[in-house]
Amino acid sequence: MDRPEPTVDKNADGGDRGGARIVQAWLAGIAIGALILAAMVVSYEIGTNNADDSNAVQPPGQAAEEPAAAPAAVPPPAAAGPGSDLFVASCGSCHTLSAAGTDGAAGPNLDDLQPDAALVASAIEAGGTGSGAMPAGLLSGEDAQDVADYVAASSGASK
Ligand code: HEC
Repeated sequence: MDRPEPTVDKNADGGDRGGARIVQAWLAGIAIGALILAAMVVSYEIGTNNADDSNAVQPPGQAAEEPAAAPAAVPPPAAAGPGSDLFVASCGSCHTLSAAGTDGAAGPNLDDLQPDAALVASAIEAGGTGSGAMPAGLLSGEDAQDVADYVAASSGASK
């Protein structure tokens, strides 16, 4: 019951102030909005200019440098790289190798078998012992050699 009266007074009193504040807030909003817009335009132009510059300059000189720099950063420290990934993808579903974190059970456990690289390489080529239970030629060339080295190194290391 007490509330309506003060509220009415404030409304009557604050009408003008409120209007002034609204105008001020409105102007401030426009100013801030303009600043943000300006900043966006400037940064967009910087980005566009950079893109234009690099596009213009890249073809002759930089194009050769950048691809060279990227692979240089990628090579992993040791045998844990491509061989490990390939093993997990191509062999892990059938073979257990603790170093690779696989627990396939269709083929022999390579932690137990501890094959040397030559045995692994020939198993990849022939498909295990050639019994037909393991697909032949799952990998070839460097990939096969990477996996052979990796399996020999990691199953031997777990001895
Ligand atoms: C579809 C399941 C399967 C996949 C995938 C598979 N193997 Fe086998 N692997 C087997 C089976 C089953 C055997 C045992 C039968 C045989 O030796 O023919 C075997 C045997 C082996 C042997 C032992 C050969 C020997 O002489 O005793 C090695 C080493 C081997 N696999 C490595 C690999 C590697 C490395 C890969 C990945 C490139 C791989 N396997 C992928 C099923 C598989």
